[in-house]
Amino acid sequence: MAGNLVNSLLERLNLTSSTHGAPAQEPAEDELKTLRQKYEKAKQEHVFAFYDQLNTQEKASLFDQLSTFDPDRINVLADKALHPPTASGEEPSIEPLPESASASVLDASKEQTEEWYNAGLGHIAKNTVALVLMAGGQGTRLGSSDPKGCFDIGLPSHKSLFQMQAERILKLQQLAKHHASLSTEPIVPWYVMTSGPTRAPTEKYFEEHNYFGLSKENVIIFEQGVLPCISNEGKILMESKSKVAVAPDGNGGIYQALLTSDARSDMRKRGIEHIHAYCVDNCLVKVADPVFVGFAASKEVDIATKVVRKRAANESVGLIVQKNGKPDVVEYSEIDQEMAEAKDSSGLLKFRAANIVNHYYSFRCFDTIEEWAHKLPHHVAKKKIPYCDTETGESVKPEKPNGIKLEQFVFDVFPFIPMDKFACFEVDRKEEFSPLKNGKGSTEDNAETSKRDIMEQGARWLRSAGAVVVSEGDNAAGVEVSPLISYGGEGLDYLRGREIKAPAVIERSKDE
Ligand code: UTP
Repeated sequence: MAGNLVNSLLERLNLTSSTHGAPAQEPAEDELKTLRQKYEKAKQEHVFAFYDQLNTQEKASLFDQLSTFDPDRINVLADKALHPPTASGEEPSIEPLPESASASVLDASKEQTEEWYNAGLGHIAKNTVALVLMAGGQGTRLGSSDPKGCFDIGLPSHKSLFQMQAERILKLQQLAKHHASLSTEPIVPWYVMTSGPTRAPTEKYFEEHNYFGLSKENVIIFEQGVLPCISNEGKILMESKSKVAVAPDGNGGIYQALLTSDARSDMRKRGIEHIHAYCVDNCLVKVADPVFVGFAASKEVDIATKVVRKRAANESVGLIVQKNGKPDVVEYSEIDQEMAEAKDSSGLLKFRAANIVNHYYSFRCFDTIEEWAHKLPHHVAKKKIPYCDTETGESVKPEKPNGIKLEQFVFDVFPFIPMDKFACFEVDRKEEFSPLKNGKGSTEDNAETSKRDIMEQGARWLRSAGAVVVSEGDNAAGVEVSPLISYGGEGLDYLRGREIKAPAVIERSKDE
């Protein structure tokens, strides 16, 4: 009883170790010595600069944090990232993917698309399809303090990105139930990858909104890893006297995180065979898209990636290509103007498969993560990283980039996949891709363009269902169609011949 009282007082004073609820203890002498030696050997001993001045709680938490990193490995990663090997020898051969590994919904017949769609719904009906959402980014360009998924892009309903995705899952489960004449709805489990900065607010947001009607046990929130931020001189940066500055390890951290979080084991238990992984910031994302799943499953590939057609030769997007005969992504800067402008026999840009980071994986592929995840390279993101000067103890807010964050990219796995197990699937940009990257005052990929693209899509769906969309004044007003009514434009026939005054929201189906 007395112990409990003491603990609760300590807790209120924030003097207990937050992770275990037990009072914080100073690290044992010998353990501390070993850890210090490790960092000294790696010439990163400055991380202990203020250790002796810290209180027990701070000592314990710094010790815990430093124990999670291997300073030698950090040095290797930082060195490779800061001093990349200069290109030597031959230029790589870069070609578009072979036709056998490419398909396009823009060119496919209606029958073919329907066949993929029905096959995809069939897989969903069998409970073999899962979603992995990459939502661990810090959204620095957007500049919102909440996770990006909570962002309100200004739709009439004020639904957030998370809510739209959740409602699409609900609708899809319903569609699959009807497709397969099931008595209960199948489940598309949703694995939401967060990071240190986004986990707690994401969990809170889902709790507060009752998981938007999904079952809590089918929304699995897990966390990716972090890596220390490094100065331009290769030194680990401190956020404060008792804390290393860290950043999520990039969306390529997904693979390691699927293992450490047990998300993959959970998929295995559920009998998942097909996985759709996507980014949180695409308001048009077709979660677990049956057409995509049906296509990839029928080709028996291990990875398929959705692409959109590059708008113009000079659009700065990553491209899906074959590099030295392997599937890969090349950045805009890696191809010269002649290549960027080259046309193929159809008169289209030869290199037009723009990467939108939207992937299908077979579970077979996830089963081999241990074989290749550690081989994914780390990329450098030069950033302005606030830090604590370990000479003076002062907090510094740099004016220009003073260091780097190390990030893995989710698509760096591509070269490990044999070409006959890889496919690229071209989709219609206006139906499927509109990312939210930038904040107020920007001209593209921001809240306004996201809202516009959702509203225009809704108006298109209604028109093709035979409704008449009119607007007084603002011609681009558009219509917001609730995902609970329509996943991809289906089920709107009841509005045929009806006049809809834009801007409008379609929230109810004819049965309600
Ligand atoms: P971006 O690279 O666009 O990063 O992420 P971001 O965090 O959204 O925005 P900026 O660059 O800080 O402005 C593309 C996708 O990858 C996820 C993001 O959440 C987004 O869905 N991501 C990014 C992660 O899941 N983890 C990361 O470490 C980085």
